[in-house]
Amino acid sequence: MNRQFTITIDGMHARLQAQTRAAQHEVAAGQVLLQVDAASLNYRDLLTLQGAASGAARDGLVPLSDAVGTVLAVGDGVQGWQVGDRAIPNFFPAWIEGRFDPVHLQNALGGGNTDGVLSQRLEVPAQSLVAPAAHLSDEEASTLPCAGLTAWHALFERGPVMAGDTVLVQGTGGVALFGLQLAAAVGARVIVTSSSHVKLERARQLGAWATIHYGETPAWDEQVLALTDGRGADHILELGGPDTYDRSIRAVAPGGRIAQIGVLSGFNARPDIQPLQFKNARIDGICVGSVAQLRRLNQFMAQHAIHPVIDRVFDFEDSPAAYTHLASGQHFGKLVIRL
Ligand SMILES: NC(=O)c1ccc[n+]([C@@H]2O[C@H](COP(=O)([O-])OP(=O)(O)OC[C@H]3O[C@@H](n4cnc5c(N)ncnc54)[C@H](OP(=O)(O)O)[C@@H]3O)[C@@H](O)[C@H]2O)c1
Repeated sequence: MNRQFTITIDGMHARLQAQTRAAQHEVAAGQVLLQVDAASLNYRDLLTLQGAASGAARDGLVPLSDAVGTVLAVGDGVQGWQVGDRAIPNFFPAWIEGRFDPVHLQNALGGGNTDGVLSQRLEVPAQSLVAPAAHLSDEEASTLPCAGLTAWHALFERGPVMAGDTVLVQGTGGVALFGLQLAAAVGARVIVTSSSHVKLERARQLGAWATIHYGETPAWDEQVLALTDGRGADHILELGGPDTYDRSIRAVAPGGRIAQIGVLSGFNARPDIQPLQFKNARIDGICVGSVAQLRRLNQFMAQHAIHPVIDRVFDFEDSPAAYTHLASGQHFGKLVIRL
């Protein structure tokens, strides 16, 4: 049998419901059947569940985008994958490489109409798969497709970050800590903001060059300028949205760049972008990444022996508790579900 969770919509509310289905054994041409070993949560998964009754997910959708699995069967015509291989499906299964096509938004795993990975069995296109770096555990490998790839795309596929650059990441969630680890690996000076002194201490242990408590120092942009002799940060992962955007624009260095990624304080930020002109600075819109980028992220993780930060691992049956923990904001890094 195949155990999975689905989103059940009940009026204006949506909840996770455990399901048992017949296990799939056959697989279509060009596709690969995986046994999912571990899956991880992203802030987006909270938005999908909370917004399901308003159209963010169909009734019966299997949630979550991020997982690692073991190949159980390969369809006709599949090359490069064999039974027993470990594999990570990309967030956008059909964005293989090159420029983004908005059509991929319809097919992102675990949102809208496209079933995700919180299922013991998962059929995906062979082309969407990447081999995880060998040093990663299943739990660690499951955290790469959304949070890891987004930070990688923002910092290295655009950019790129160089040794000695200053990087600012906001908060201590998944994207932010990947940003810290990836940028620190090439010798960048990473500034981390957080609402918790305990988390800031952990960030310093991970290699943060400087930290700012954004609750106690709401004008954290001024602190970034003070830390950098008035210059500002060369790269900013803008994760907060409306509450942080104006400060990010004030904190970015001349010639620097803001990666527009997050909506932690809401959608539709309306910052004053005029100052960017007089700094020759820019904003890069970032939406996760391609299969080719995920492959390069794994190569980088292997080269630098980076282990993703995992806050907690939940049993499959406790998947709803993993959502509750994410919503609490208490986590530092990633939440993983062991299947
Ligand atoms: N564009 C894309 O492709 C893409 C991909 C992935 C994620 N995202 C977005 O990026 C954001 C982060 O995602 P995630 O999965 O990393 O989230 P997450 O793991 O849930 O991180 C949440 C953390 O962010 C910090 N935070 C919350 N509100 C904040 C605020 N107003 N200002 C600064 N920090 C704040 C808090 O850290 P402290 O407790 O330390 O304060 C909180 O624990 C989300 O908005 C998500 O939707 C976008």
